[in-house]
Amino acid sequence: MPIHQIAPDFFFVQRGYLNGNHLVYKGSQVALFDTAYSSGVADTLQILKDLAIEIPQISLIVNTHSHSDHVGANHAIQQQANCEIALHKIGQYFINRKDIFFLGWKFDRPQTEFFTVTRGLEDGEIIPVGPYRWRVIYTPGHAFDGIVLYEPFQKWLISGDALWEADVASINLYKQGGAALFQLQETIERLAPLDVKTVFPGHGRMFGDYDSAIARSREKVQLYLDNPTQIGHDFIKKVMIFTLMMLDGVVEAEFLPMLMRREWFTTTVNLYFNGDYEGKYHATLNKFIERGLVVRKEGKLLTIINKG
Ligand SMILES: [Fe+2]
Repeated sequence: MPIHQIAPDFFFVQRGYLNGNHLVYKGSQVALFDTAYSSGVADTLQILKDLAIEIPQISLIVNTHSHSDHVGANHAIQQQANCEIALHKIGQYFINRKDIFFLGWKFDRPQTEFFTVTRGLEDGEIIPVGPYRWRVIYTPGHAFDGIVLYEPFQKWLISGDALWEADVASINLYKQGGAALFQLQETIERLAPLDVKTVFPGHGRMFGDYDSAIARSREKVQLYLDNPTQIGHDFIKKVMIFTLMMLDGVVEAEFLPMLMRREWFTTTVNLYFNGDYEGKYHATLNKFIERGLVVRKEGKLLTIINKG
């Protein structure tokens, strides 16, 4: 797992496709930004060990949003460390009410375990962590409780899934409503004027070319507005790949029935593809196989994408 030391007391850990990345502050206190997916807890704890961090030393976890690939180890860490957990106040509400529908945790394998959010964040708040002053910027679109954290003196941006280098994160209009696409557009325009030297995204490598990432996000949102079925195509691809990763492969004959029990699949096919579950399933799977992203092995479908 690549661990990048950004400053003597600050680390960026890049995970694979399924697990969200981490940022770690290890100085006057130990603080962690995002804790990856529930099936990656052992790796998350190992990474902390590699950084010579004892779990009980952790005093604060800040999450960029409540999606399960960013909060997966919160429970395990909070149990040992009794730490503060801070995320946006909307996520706090749904987590502390244990609402797995709005959190999207319903189909996680293993299940994301609940934890206590001790601090609900609002736009404009400052979170002091050692010498750094992280400004919370509310960035809905991909997630209703998405935030990014901006450190104006270092010009660092922890962008979660609000801004990636070369794509935009999935958008689930069934769950979030049609306004989410416009919220994402506003989010990009809110972020655009920031003076940023280094972006630490929720997935993928850290990067410096902020303006290009903003421009690419703008273009992708415009593409979605002009051609909404593209949202459906992209979402189905992610649901299928995530399912294969989560379960470390699936018996081929069981894959479509399994997807039919996951309402993200059925509702997306209903929204964009007229309920043609089989057609959409086979077309998407065939493309994955053609591109070598999914392989057949002993009756199972496996993805070669590193879940990290
Ligand atoms: Fe994510």
